[in-house]
Amino acid sequence: MRRVVCNGQRLGLRDVTEADVAALHAIYGDPTVTQHMPFAPRSLREVAGLVDRAMEAACAEPRLLYVLAVVDAERRDLIGVARLHVEADHPHSAEIGFGLHPHQWGRGTGTDLVRLLLSFGFKQLGLHRIWGARSPSNLPAQLAMLTAGMVEEGRIRHHVHTPHGWRDSIVHSAIEDEWTER
Ligand SMILES: CC(C)(COP(=O)(O)OP(=O)(O)OC[C@H]1O[C@@H](n2cnc3c(N)ncnc32)[C@H](O)[C@@H]1OP(=O)(O)O)[C@@H](O)C(=O)NCCC(=O)NCCS
Repeated sequence: MRRVVCNGQRLGLRDVTEADVAALHAIYGDPTVTQHMPFAPRSLREVAGLVDRAMEAACAEPRLLYVLAVVDAERRDLIGVARLHVEADHPHSAEIGFGLHPHQWGRGTGTDLVRLLLSFGFKQLGLHRIWGARSPSNLPAQLAMLTAGMVEEGRIRHHVHTPHGWRDSIVHSAIEDEWTER
């Protein structure tokens, strides 16, 4: 297994471990974090299962799923979670997802996180295309992805089923050569 080590100026990315379950639950268990996600707040047990599956996926060859702890670059504590899923049939392309603990919101950290994920995907994984799907009403995610250089591609109708019914998604993407030129 190739461990992820990716460090930016303010943030770092690393593989999740069992020791992260409580800190991840503080994020995935919070209804303000999951309000735009297609699932209800996760229980501690569900988060533990998610970490188990993430660690198993980290050992797969080829590796398609990266569930990463987002850490403060100096303090090294876990402040968020990021997910990058390489498409099995189109391995030049991957979908990203991300969330930060609400204490971190509104200070540019989300935008930095998207930038770091793009850098990780393009430079370390050699991807050509990286995309993310957000809820149409998720303004912070929209602005974070736009500012980080991910253009809006369009709308997928009834893309996901949420606890409140079907939900459309707005897709953003970045392409490697455009991103390098920025
Ligand atoms: C999406 C998320 C990571 C953004 O994190 P963040 O640290 O608040 O992002 P930033 O501080 O970089 O803000 C991004 C932009 O949104 C704006 N913004 C942040 N919170 C806002 C709010 N509540 N209302 C309106 N705008 C807001 C910021 O001003 C900034 O805009 P700017 O670039 O024009 O200055 C965070 O809101 C989060 O974890 N949400 C829950 C999980 C989630 O929805 N993930 C996205 C799935 S696609």
